[in-house]
Amino acid sequence: MKAATVVPGKPELSAVTELPDPVPQPGELLVRGLLVGFCRIDRDVTEHAHGALPPGQDRMVLFHESVGQAVHAPAISGFQDGDYVVGVVRRPDPEPCEACAAGQWDFCLNGEYTERGIRGLDGFGAQLWTVEPQFAIKVSPGLGALGVLTEPASVVAKAWEQVDMIGRRAYFAPHRALVTRAGPIGLLAALLGVQRGLEVHVLDQVAEGPRPDLVRALGATYHTSLDDLRCEPDVVIETTGSGRLVFEVLQHTARNAITVLTGLAGHHRTMPFPAEAAIDNELMLDNDVVVSSVNANLRHYKQAVQALAAADRNWLESLISRRIPLRNWTDVFDTGPDEVKVVVDLQA
Ligand code: BGC
Repeated sequence: MKAATVVPGKPELSAVTELPDPVPQPGELLVRGLLVGFCRIDRDVTEHAHGALPPGQDRMVLFHESVGQAVHAPAISGFQDGDYVVGVVRRPDPEPCEACAAGQWDFCLNGEYTERGIRGLDGFGAQLWTVEPQFAIKVSPGLGALGVLTEPASVVAKAWEQVDMIGRRAYFAPHRALVTRAGPIGLLAALLGVQRGLEVHVLDQVAEGPRPDLVRALGATYHTSLDDLRCEPDVVIETTGSGRLVFEVLQHTARNAITVLTGLAGHHRTMPFPAEAAIDNELMLDNDVVVSSVNANLRHYKQAVQALAAADRNWLESLISRRIPLRNWTDVFDTGPDEVKVVVDLQA
């Protein structure tokens, strides 16, 4: 079988590699890979060596956003041949720590977790892959290959769950949410916000192309400047990782607001910043919360599948702005400002 492989930190060695077909361990599913989604982390792995190679390997199969169809599902696995399947990204640390032992590997305490296609485990960018049934998510045939949006939606479902949990600290009846950047994570965050009945605002830099239309199609409002917002959001889902933007946004939030950070900057700029004034005025006196949210556990994948099933299929389809055949997979790195979700077709 063919696979998209990388050597982290050596982008020139990214390739389509012929690898032996994987052999499922007893109890595991064998899956025919259909699509994988490209995400910023895939670039960080390839170009900046985020994550780590699987032990003893000199290259790694890339990609962690998956969907495929089971070609061999053991009777006790709860899956059947032909089922659409998504693989969970993170695996608990081997110890396991108390959080991982409780199924909360997204809150792993000792940092020894592994992640498929990112850190110590091969990813899903292969024509065949195996997965343990307890780390596989079933997607309805109605959603089918659009199940490739499950992993990013799981990250967003976790972010919204954080809002719910933190909101319970006090009286909290949010009306408005702001999402920063209309990339795939931002658009899915907006979708879940609209599904919760909130008035959703999305901030992005581009004024044209598919992003504004995708936001408006949800019934949300698109902005290219924070000054146009003219309302104070109770919830912010921040997806850019820009420190400057985070502090700008905090100046616009309502009292008791919850801001969830879901993005990585990928660069570490220094900026002059009146830290104490911001802590006094934007956080302390407003009872604000800023919380980070990374990765997702099984509960969030299940919430993601439900949110996608309740969404308009055409809208989900239009999130996928480009399909690249496996043989040209490295084209994912040439994404333009108009792209939303770029996927690799593993069978084309
Ligand atoms: C993935 C997460 C992962 C994180 C850090 C993200 O792109 O969605 O599952 O934990 O990268 O590696």
